Amino acid sequence: MIKVKVPASSANMGAGFDTLGVALALYNRLEIEETDGGIEIETRNFNGRILQNENNLIYKSMCVVFDAAGYRRRGIRIVQKSDIPMTRGLGSSSACIIGGMLAANVICGRRLSYGEILNLAAKEEGHPDNVAPALYGGFCVSMTDGDITYTKSIKLNSKLKFAVMIPDFYVATKKSRGILPNKVSRADAVFNISRASMFQAALSSGDLDMLKYAARDRLHQPYRKKYIDGMDEIFERTYELGSRATYLSGSGPTIMSLIDRNYRGFQSGMKEFFESGSHKWTCKILSVDNVGTVVSEI
Ligand code: HSE
Repeated sequence: MIKVKVPASSANMGAGFDTLGVALALYNRLEIEETDGGIEIETRNFNGRILQNENNLIYKSMCVVFDAAGYRRRGIRIVQKSDIPMTRGLGSSSACIIGGMLAANVICGRRLSYGEILNLAAKEEGHPDNVAPALYGGFCVSMTDGDITYTKSIKLNSKLKFAVMIPDFYVATKKSRGILPNKVSRADAVFNISRASMFQAALSSGDLDMLKYAARDRLHQPYRKKYIDGMDEIFERTYELGSRATYLSGSGPTIMSLIDRNYRGFQSGMKEFFESGSHKWTCKILSVDNVGTVVSEI
C-alpha cells in the first residue's frame, strides 16, 4: 500500500496572482493500492461531495501519470482522509492532483521525475501556484514557460504563522476566475510586478515590515471582493490586530493573515470581530509546511 500526505496551500499571497504560494500544515492523507480491477473510493472524516467513479480527481490524476509513463493500469482502491476544506481557497484540488500523481508514479516504478509531475499537475490545475507548494513545501515562486513549469521553494521560519479565516460559504474557482478582466492597464501590471517581487524579497530576507504594502493587489482581489461580504473591513481589522500581510487565499473566500507574534490574541480578536457579522467565520492558526508531500510504501 502507498500512503501519501499532501499539505494544503495558499496561493497568490496578494500580488503574486498564479505565481506565489505557500504550503500549510493541514493535510490530505491518501492510502492507495492496486487491485485486480475496478475503482473503489472511500472517504473518511470528510463532509464534501466526492465522486466515487472514474471522474474522481485523485483517480483522474493517477491516470494522467499512468498514460504519461506508458503504464497499463489495473484496478485502484483509494481511501482519502482530508482535513482541507473544499472550494475555500486552500488548495484542496491541488492536494488531490499531487497525491494521486505521486501515488501513481510509485505504482509505475517512479518513471517520472518530480519536475515532470509538476508540469502535468500545473497543466491539470490550470496554474502552478497551489500544486508547486503542495509538492515541494515551503514558499514557492513558480512560472510556466511553454509546457514547462519552474518552481523555487524557499523554506520559511516556523515562527511566522498563518491565520486562516474560513467562512461558512464557498466560491467556486471557476466562477471566481470568470469575473477577472482579460486585459489590465500597464499601471496595474507594474503595481503588481513590483509588489509580488517585493513580497518575495521581504519574506526571503525576513524584513516583514515591507509585507503589508507588498501584499496589495490590483489584478484579482478588487474584482473578487464582491463575493466576500465585508472583505475590506476584515482586512482592516486584521491589520489592527497585528497582521503583517493579509490577502485573499487563492480565489477565496478564505482570507489569510501572516502573523509573527501574539497568535492567540489575534485569533480571539478576530473571533470577536466575526461574531458581529452576518456570516460564520472560523480562524485557525497554522504553521508553514516546509517538507511538501511525503510518500511511503508499506
Ligand atoms: N491563482 C489561482 C486563482 C488560485 O487565483 O484563481 C486558485 O486557487
